[in-house]
Amino acid sequence: MLSAASPTPSDDPAWTLIWQDASDIPGWLKEGQARILWDEARALPDGATVLEIGSHQGRSTVVLGEALRSKGGTVLAVDPFIEGRLFGGLSTKDKFEANIAAAGLGDVVELVQDYSTRIRPTWSRGFDLLYIDGKHDYWTLSDDLKWAVHLPPGAAVVIHDCYSSIGVTLGILAHVLFSSELAYERRSDSQALFRVRRPSTADRLRILREVPWWIRNVFLKVLLRLRLRPVARLFGHDSPYDPY
Ligand SMILES: C[S@@+](CC[C@H](N)C(=O)[O-])C[C@H]1O[C@@H](n2cnc3c(N)ncnc32)[C@H](O)[C@@H]1O
Repeated sequence: MLSAASPTPSDDPAWTLIWQDASDIPGWLKEGQARILWDEARALPDGATVLEIGSHQGRSTVVLGEALRSKGGTVLAVDPFIEGRLFGGLSTKDKFEANIAAAGLGDVVELVQDYSTRIRPTWSRGFDLLYIDGKHDYWTLSDDLKWAVHLPPGAAVVIHDCYSSIGVTLGILAHVLFSSELAYERRSDSQALFRVRRPSTADRLRILREVPWWIRNVFLKVLLRLRLRPVARLFGHDSPYDPY
């Protein structure tokens, strides 16, 4: 779902080619969601740097890297490649590196193989766009939001699984709803765009207006855990996967 102000995914021929390649890489990013990253990264100045938390096999990294390629920019891809059924551990690192090489983005993407929460306290390098798609619990998201201190005014903070994950959404309600430094702009499904600026009352209300959608998503997740997929279908969710 694209919210009202979202761009049309297919209105740029360069984008169509980029998405064809990126969408071949396994991952959880949908086209409208990727397009937010592409549009925001393309709007950055020459030599810009993007910091991505959670790269997996590189689907979003390739989108960001392609946007910065002609600008001499850099994507700092932070991922420890955690073990487990969902993320695959170190074999995922090999796939990530192969996908970055296949896209010819070896000079654009710099891998930082570590936990975002471990490196953040001593990090000093500035960057121009922050993409958060790492661990989705409340504590990690709360810590990941602190990376925004390195951003200049007006910079974009893009957060995946926003208003679909319980931990991410609670983090947004606790740390962004009343923040004076980060304003919510829009989303494509669960990919939400925030900006480093003083939020207006309308920006804050826009966050609250997403709460019913969040409750719907949590409800759908409960149905899927209870193996009630036919019931989830009645609520418009025709997929075995959690809504995102
Ligand atoms: C949902 S996947 C990212 C998907 C990726 N953005 C894409 O487009 O396909 C989440 C990733 O976050 C990583 N991760 C988990 N905890 C992390 C942390 N504390 N810091 C950085 N990455 C983390 C996992 O290893 C996993 O690869």
